[in-house]
Amino acid sequence: MAIMLCTWVFLAFSAHLVASYTGRKCGSPPVYPGKPLEERYEGKQEFSNTDRVVYKCALGYTHSYGSRYSFCQNGQWSLLSMQCRKKRCGSAGEILNGRFRQMGNAFGDKAYAECNEGYVLQGEPVRECLSNGWSGMAPTCVALVADSASSASHRPVICPLLHKNKNATFHGTKATYEPGENLSYSCNVGFRLIGNKNFLLCERTGKWNPSHANCEKIKCEKFTIANGKVQFGNLTFNTKANISCKDGYRLRGPSVVTCGADSSWTPDLPTCEEVLPVQVTCLPPAVPNSSGQDGYKMAYEVGEQATISCQEGFEPIGSSQVTCGADGQWQEMPECRIAGGKCQPPPYFPNAHTEHSNQRHYEPNTPVRFKCNHGYRMVRGPSTIYCRNGRWTDLRLICEKKKCGSAGEIQNGRYRYTGSLFGDTATVTCNKGHRLVGVGVRHCRAHGWDGRAPVCEAIQCPEPPEVPDADLFFDTSGIIKHGYVASYRCRLGTLIGSSDIFCTEDGTWSAPAPRCEGQHKAKRIALPVLYHETVLYSPPCYLPYPQSEVWGNSFRHEVSIPIWERGDIQVQPRKKIIGP
Ligand SMILES: *[C@@H]1O[C@H](CO)[C@@H](O)[C@H](O)[C@H]1NC(C)=O
Ligand SMILES: *[C@@H]1O[C@H](CO)[C@@H](O)[C@H](O)[C@H]1NC(C)=O
Ligand SMILES: *[C@@H]1O[C@H](CO)[C@@H](O)[C@H](O)[C@H]1NC(C)=O
Ligand SMILES: *[C@@H]1O[C@H](CO)[C@@H](O)[C@H](O)[C@H]1NC(C)=O
Ligand SMILES: *[C@@H]1O[C@H](CO)[C@@H](O)[C@H](O)[C@H]1NC(C)=O
Repeated sequence: MAIMLCTWVFLAFSAHLVASYTGRKCGSPPVYPGKPLEERYEGKQEFSNTDRVVYKCALGYTHSYGSRYSFCQNGQWSLLSMQCRKKRCGSAGEILNGRFRQMGNAFGDKAYAECNEGYVLQGEPVRECLSNGWSGMAPTCVALVADSASSASHRPVICPLLHKNKNATFHGTKATYEPGENLSYSCNVGFRLIGNKNFLLCERTGKWNPSHANCEKIKCEKFTIANGKVQFGNLTFNTKANISCKDGYRLRGPSVVTCGADSSWTPDLPTCEEVLPVQVTCLPPAVPNSSGQDGYKMAYEVGEQATISCQEGFEPIGSSQVTCGADGQWQEMPECRIAGGKCQPPPYFPNAHTEHSNQRHYEPNTPVRFKCNHGYRMVRGPSTIYCRNGRWTDLRLICEKKKCGSAGEIQNGRYRYTGSLFGDTATVTCNKGHRLVGVGVRHCRAHGWDGRAPVCEAIQCPEPPEVPDADLFFDTSGIIKHGYVASYRCRLGTLIGSSDIFCTEDGTWSAPAPRCEGQHKAKRIALPVLYHETVLYSPPCYLPYPQSEVWGNSFRHEVSIPIWERGDIQVQPRKKIIGP
């Protein structure tokens, strides 16, 4: 805790210093590359406000424009605007019987002296552009006297530096070379070295040996592709050739090749292959009960032959030599039959069976009789086959399912069939309001429909229930069948529930009988006997006619001599009643 407090105090103190005390002072002036400070300011680390420093251009450079000064302003050095450029030296000079090859005329550039053929250089071969002009002095070129031993010994013999030409690039580091020195080179792109000597040797005569780089233009040879066509370019390095095949041939390899640095085409040249039709072959021949063929093969070519041999106890029928046909099938395959004219077990016939036990083979002339299976009947014969020469005679037997036909008529119902043949079923459905009595499903068996026809019986409802204070209207003749309606009318009170109920399909009434509620003290009235006499009744009232109903404020009666009425009370019969 104590340390943290101290640190905080120190920070606060230094911040105060920066703001007030050093505000007008500057530290060391900034360093600009290539633009040093004048010596007198070097090493000084503190400057007062408004102090200035002077910069100069580096050696070999001269001031081109901008101010050389930078000022201290409130602790900041102003930005230096001075610009410098390289000093220039101009021409390196003239050489009699030779010349300077000048790489430029600015500070740091070099000029190489070269002599004409037959002359050798004396003096400095290279001049450099320095801050105060070209270094040294121009050399001279003196005539070479090759045969004079004395003069040769006096005059130095040198080979001139070679530079890049069309074929090669020389890797010289010196301006001139003395006899015995080597100048290495590499061939330019598209050229390649002849032999393996990639340097020139400076001879005593001042000449290079060999006189030039051994670089030759890379060229690729033309080539041909059997059954193909080639389009060549100009056959030089990096040019391409297009390859295609004649009709009926397929290219295997690249369609374009390029002339490579080693004068060969890359990638490897392709070939043109004949497009062959799909080859037809036969699978190994398969003959039941054979022991295979001589020398098993996966596939046989067209025209190839194979010999088939039968298993022990079997003998070949037909030629045992077979030939692979053009369609990939074996021609005229033999059969392997049980030897000695015996027969194998008789073949399977649909819906039929034999009565013989299953023997492994049958003696010649053995008859085998077939019978149609249960539920089937023979529609074509004969039903017996014979073993003749190791084969069974033809069996033309046909067995068909037995027919049951119609299962008959059902009153108030009908049959639904899956079919009318052996194994099919007929299912009885009763009409609405009828119920099944008996077994509803019959099966078509070998001897016809099984069981007995069931009966569809009408469904009856019980008598409709009596309801106190209500009249019941319904047809009482005959049985109470599905659809019959019983209607209730309250003589007194209000009807609660349904006034009409009917006999449903399952022999019950569609709803419970209604009730008559809120019934007031009944007021019996006498049957009016005097026609045309009118009496006033006050509802609710009770009329002794079950067929009558009171509604509104009046009643009216129409039994034999209709209409008597009075005031606003009417009595009217509701329904004609049949029965007792
Ligand atoms: C120049 O090359 C020759 C041949 O390879 C070699 O014998 C000789 O030493 C080389 N000279 C120099 C100075 O590299
Ligand atoms: C390039 O090489 C070829 C073959 O070596 C030569 O004939 C030719 O003079 C060379 N060209 C130059 C510019 O050196
Ligand atoms: C090769 O084929 C390309 C593409 O079709 C074509 O541009 C080029 O000119 C061809 N080269 C030659 C040498 O025919
Ligand atoms: C060969 O092709 C190269 C590359 O396309 C080209 O620079 C050169 O001029 C061509 N030479 C000839 C002889 O056509
Ligand atoms: C003969 O071939 C038939 C048909 O492939 C086969 O069912 C039978 O078992 C064979 N008989 C013997 C004895 O191998």
